[in-house]
Amino acid sequence: MSQRNNFGSKLGVVLAAAGSAVGLGNVWRFPTEVGNNGGAAFILIYLCCILFIGVPVMLSEFVIGRHTHANTIGAFRKLAPGTWWRLGGIEGVFVAFFISCYYIIVSGWTLHYMVASMCNQLTGDQDYKSYFSDFVSSPLEPVVYAVVFMLLVHVIIVRGVEKGIERFSKLMMPMLLLIIGVLVVCSFSMSGFTEGVTYMLRPDFSKVTPNIVLSAVGQAFYSLSLAMGCLCTYASYFGPDTNLAKTAVSVSVIDTCVAVLCGFIIFPAVFSVPGVEANEGPGLVFITLPHVFNIAFHNVPIIGYVFSTLFYVLLMLSALTSAISLHEVATAYIHEEWNVSRKRAACMVTVGCLLLGVACSLSMGVWNDFRICGLCLFDLFDYVSAKIILPLGGIIICLFVGWKLDRQMVYNEVTNNGTLHLGPSDAATAAGGRPSLGARLLSRLHPFRIYIFLVRWVAPTAIAVIFINELLR
Ligand code: PHE
Repeated sequence: MSQRNNFGSKLGVVLAAAGSAVGLGNVWRFPTEVGNNGGAAFILIYLCCILFIGVPVMLSEFVIGRHTHANTIGAFRKLAPGTWWRLGGIEGVFVAFFISCYYIIVSGWTLHYMVASMCNQLTGDQDYKSYFSDFVSSPLEPVVYAVVFMLLVHVIIVRGVEKGIERFSKLMMPMLLLIIGVLVVCSFSMSGFTEGVTYMLRPDFSKVTPNIVLSAVGQAFYSLSLAMGCLCTYASYFGPDTNLAKTAVSVSVIDTCVAVLCGFIIFPAVFSVPGVEANEGPGLVFITLPHVFNIAFHNVPIIGYVFSTLFYVLLMLSALTSAISLHEVATAYIHEEWNVSRKRAACMVTVGCLLLGVACSLSMGVWNDFRICGLCLFDLFDYVSAKIILPLGGIIICLFVGWKLDRQMVYNEVTNNGTLHLGPSDAATAAGGRPSLGARLLSRLHPFRIYIFLVRWVAPTAIAVIFINELLR
C-alpha cells in the first residue's frame, strides 16, 4: 500500500479540523438555540460544555487517530485487537456515511440558494415558504444540486489529504472568516442591530432548565463534529510535532467564535423586520432570511443582493468543508481496509452517498408517504444517526480513552512524548507517582489529570443523560 499522506503544516491541520467543525450547525442552529434558550445564559452554559466536554472528547479523538495513523475502524482495531471496543470505529464510519447521505441534500439546498441569490431570484415580495417547499419536494432539482455539490466534494477528496483537503481548507477557511467579517460589519448598519444583539446577549437565567443544559451539550457535540470519526481520521494525518491539546483548543475557539458571529449576522437582520420570528433550522435560513434580506434592504437593493449572496456563499462553503470531512472518514476506511486505490474508494463513497441521498431527497416529496416508525427516510436517517448512534459513539470514545487505553501512552500522545510541558511534575502525573507533598497537591490539579477525569466521568455521564433523555421523549 502507498505511503500514508500527512497534513503538511500546522496551520493546515487547524484549518482542516476547523473546516469540519464550522458548518450548518454554526450558521443556523447555534443562533436560534441562543435566542430561544436564554441568550447569554445559554452561551455561558455552552462555553462550559465546550471546555469540559467538547475539548476533552476532541483531544481523545486526536489521541486515537494520531497514535494509530489509521482510519477510524483500523485505529480501534490496532489499539484493542479482537475486542468489542472496535464498535467505536465501526460507529464512526457508519455514522459519518449515513450523515453524509442527508447532509449533501441540505448542502445542495444551500448551493441552490447561493445560485438563486446570485441570479437575483430571491428578490421581491414572493412567498418564500412555498418557494422552499416547492423546491425541496421537487423530484429533480434538489437531486441535481446535491450531485453537483457531491462532485465538488469528490474532486477535493480525490486530490488527497495535503493537495486536496489541506489546500482547500487553507483557501476556504480564511475566505469564510472574511465573509463573516464583512457580514457582521454590514449588520452594524441595520436598524435592528441593537435589538437583535440584545436579544441574543441578554442573560435570562430564568430560562435555564436541565433540558437547556442538555441542548447545549448536544449542540457542542454536533458543532465540533465529535464522535463521527471525522476528527479521528483527520488526526491520523497529523505529524509527530502537532500539539494535540493546542489544536483542540484552537479548533473549539474558532468554531465558537464563528457561531457567535453568525448570531451577530442573523439577529440584527431578523429584528430589522417587524413581525418576523427567528424560527429554527431550515425555516430560518431558507424561508425567513430571504424575506428579511429583501425588506431590510429594500431602500438599497444592491446591498441586499450582496448581503444575501455572501450569506449563501458562506452557508455553502461551511457545508462543503464539513461534507469533505464526512466523506474522508469512509474513503480512508475503504482505501486502507479494502485495499483499493484512494480514487476508487472515493468513487464508491460518492456513489453510495448519492444513491441513499437521492432516496432521502425524494422522501421529502414524491416518496413522502413511505414511512418507517412514522418518519420519512430523511428524518429517519437524521434520527438514527444523530440521536442514537452518535451519542453511543461518544460514550465509547470517552470510555475507551479514559479507561481502556494505557495512561502513559495517552500522556505521551498529548505531550508529544514528553516534549511539551502541560504543567508541573508532568512525569509524576503520567505515572501516577507520589513525589513530595507539594508536587502531589499540584499534580492533583494537573491539566492531564483533569483531562482524564473529564473523559472518564464527566463527558460519558453527560452524553448518557442526553441519550436517555432523547429516548424517553
Ligand atoms: N460540525 C458541523 C456543523 O456545525 C456538522 C458536521 C456534522 C460536520 C458531521 C461534520 C460531520 O454543522
